[in-house]
Amino acid sequence: MSDTGMVLEPGEKKKHYVQRMFNSIAHRYDFLNHFLSLGIDIVWRKKAIRKLDVSPDQQVLDLACGTADFALEIIRQKQCHVVGADIALRMLQFARQKTDDPKLRLMNADGEALPFKDDSFAGTTIAFGIRNMGNRIQALKEMYRVLQPNGQTVILEFSLPTFAPFRRIYLFYFKNILPMVGRMVSKDKEAYSYLPASVERFPTIEEFENELTLAGFKDLKHWRLLNGVAVIYKGKKLMTNEK
Ligand SMILES: C[S@@+](CC[C@H](N)C(=O)[O-])C[C@H]1O[C@@H](n2cnc3c(N)ncnc32)[C@H](O)[C@@H]1O
Repeated sequence: MSDTGMVLEPGEKKKHYVQRMFNSIAHRYDFLNHFLSLGIDIVWRKKAIRKLDVSPDQQVLDLACGTADFALEIIRQKQCHVVGADIALRMLQFARQKTDDPKLRLMNADGEALPFKDDSFAGTTIAFGIRNMGNRIQALKEMYRVLQPNGQTVILEFSLPTFAPFRRIYLFYFKNILPMVGRMVSKDKEAYSYLPASVERFPTIEEFENELTLAGFKDLKHWRLLNGVAVIYKGKKLMTNEK
């Protein structure tokens, strides 16, 4: 634990810390997302979902769905049924206020122990959520378990820019300006300091792809967005007779 009380070490404490934090900032979450990213998060979500090959009326799980922006974009682009699962009830309440689309089912559930049978979904997705899991590998294993053979997972997550001069400017914004504005608007002392701290601790693309492999995913691909500020990852669950 850092001297601010922020919990970044993996485990149960982090899971509960994150759950409390998102419940506390839920009322300002959407506004701050779009404001602090100048709306780029909307473009990234659209791009990520374009990578998901699913057919209309298939079932998709959007884990850590929060206020459902990603889940609603999946419905918009793919016309499938989406289960949005999140551990923070307040985030789900804001999601519900946003839509009464019958294609979206919301569930208060922990991504590390999903209440679904094996092979339930044609696709599983998670946007800006995998970094926040108490036990990231366990959540990846769960996303793999509930995926049907031939199904796909698409993950959108922050990373760090690769071009050094841009990285320096970006880190100045990310570690100084963003936490200050986030604190003022959300009234949460830590949430927007947790964000850059957790991104800096997140594995590199290569390390994260090793974790995806460990969880069972095959045919891995990734796409860097804005010089690596965010990355889209895609993986498949092969049929049992495929290698
Ligand atoms: C940064 S928000 C992302 C929300 C949404 N996917 C989006 O793109 O805006 C991260 C979300 O992960 C959720 N979360 C964190 N740990 C979780 C867990 N163990 N199980 C389910 N959801 C979790 C939080 O409650 C929060 O809503």
